[in-house]
Amino acid sequence: MTFIRVIGFSVALLLFYMGFGHILPQVEPDKSAPVEVSTAGLDMDGMIALGDKLFSGKGTCTLCHNDMGRAPDTLVMDMAATYPERLMDARYKGVSSGKEGAKAIEAYILESMTDPTAFVVEGYGQKGSNDTISPMPAADKAPIELTVVEMNAVTAFLQDLAGLTPTVPLPSADDAPVAEELTGGEAAPLLTSGEAVSDEHGCASCHDLDGSGADLGPSLYGIGKRMSRATVMEAIIDPNAVIAQGYDAGFMPDDFGEAMRGSELLLLTDYLMALPDTAPVTDDDTDEPPATSGLEVADKFGCAGCHDLDGSGADIGPALNGIGTRMTAEQVKQNILEPNAEITEGYEADMMPDYFGDDMAESEIELIVDYLMMLPE
Ligand code: HEC
Ligand code: HEC
Ligand code: HEC
Repeated sequence: MTFIRVIGFSVALLLFYMGFGHILPQVEPDKSAPVEVSTAGLDMDGMIALGDKLFSGKGTCTLCHNDMGRAPDTLVMDMAATYPERLMDARYKGVSSGKEGAKAIEAYILESMTDPTAFVVEGYGQKGSNDTISPMPAADKAPIELTVVEMNAVTAFLQDLAGLTPTVPLPSADDAPVAEELTGGEAAPLLTSGEAVSDEHGCASCHDLDGSGADLGPSLYGIGKRMSRATVMEAIIDPNAVIAQGYDAGFMPDDFGEAMRGSELLLLTDYLMALPDTAPVTDDDTDEPPATSGLEVADKFGCAGCHDLDGSGADIGPALNGIGTRMTAEQVKQNILEPNAEITEGYEADMMPDYFGDDMAESEIELIVDYLMMLPE
């Protein structure tokens, strides 16, 4: 009954993701799962993706830094040209005063976050302060409270956006909020391969991955050719930032960033980046030994999910009892290998799967035909 079980599972998962989780208590996520993103092991692409998320998320930077004129429109302006001018401004007395280069810009951005009043961009100061006091809240204090690693991530994101190579330090193991400690050792075990991360989070139930053929989201085969590593990471942790053409926003869960550790995100991304251009020809059951009786073959390929077989009572396809009196073995075989060549009267085409010919071992085809031919009426 593999076939039916797989469908049942996918539907349950789908309902869960569509917000019907409450009627499916058995797939409710483990409450002890870590909710903090561990940043240990995150590389620069990961930092950029995290910074991008923080800029519009926890950092609330886009509340003010947008096109409404409350603050410089950071995401749109030419930072690479403007920031060096700020450092040369006679009014600027901050840490990067008179300095040049990417490191000086890194320090300027960080300082803007921790000490906004160190320099107030002309025309943006608090009313009546003559541009000496910034209205921007310090990002490392309440209510924003970004950690050092998070401010570094935002800085990396802005440097990258400005076309500069990010210069921020990468997080070390000491920096990371260790989820295992916070949850008293009950946290989900650390996953150590990209495939395991994909499995754990059900990516293949919406994306064609691992031979699933799912098409609720775009196929991820060949994604390494279409997208940069940083964009793929962003698509995973902030799926609504950019919506793939032809698909709806708000459909892909947007909490993977919280449910995954930094190292898991990296493994998952590397796994996706290395996928071949097209789905490998599926031969799902090659690692399973071939079935050794007709009944086992029927079980393995889920025939009884559609046919009244072995007392299943299913009626999506015609009952197979006594089929040996109606057909020759050759015809039965033909019906299994090419179900759409001839459609049984009263039933529709394309209902019976047409991949058994590819998926079954030669010996399994012989066994299932012999078994069906012997079924009593
Ligand atoms: C409540 C509004 C507000 C929020 C929230 C805010 N900022 Fe600002 N920010 C400003 C204003 C206004 C300025 C211009 C005045 C100044 O230079 O301090 C500014 C200036 C800056 C500058 C210098 C810009 C330049 O053109 O030189 C940077 C960089 C910056 N902010 C980054 C951030 C980041 C990153 C965040 C989120 C963590 C953030 N800001 C959140 C209002 C805000
Ligand atoms: C409930 C269905 C669903 C699940 C589960 C899901 N996705 Fe998606 N995904 C989508 C949809 C729909 C889109 C297209 C809309 C969009 O861009 O947000 C998408 C888009 C993407 C994209 C961008 C692809 C492109 O061509 O633009 C990537 C990368 C991606 N998903 C990776 C993943 C990974 C990795 C997982 C598992 C951790 C996952 N998805 C789980 C539905 C899903
Ligand atoms: C998803 C449902 C489904 C599954 C699973 C399925 N079938 Fe079918 N089958 C059908 C339908 C519908 C028909 C009738 C339409 C047609 O001829 O394609 C059919 C027709 C047949 C026929 C011709 C019967 C006749 O009276 O003409 C045979 C033989 C058959 N299936 C064998 C199998 C075997 C063996 C398996 C398992 C390896 C299987 N089927 C799995 C739906 C299914």
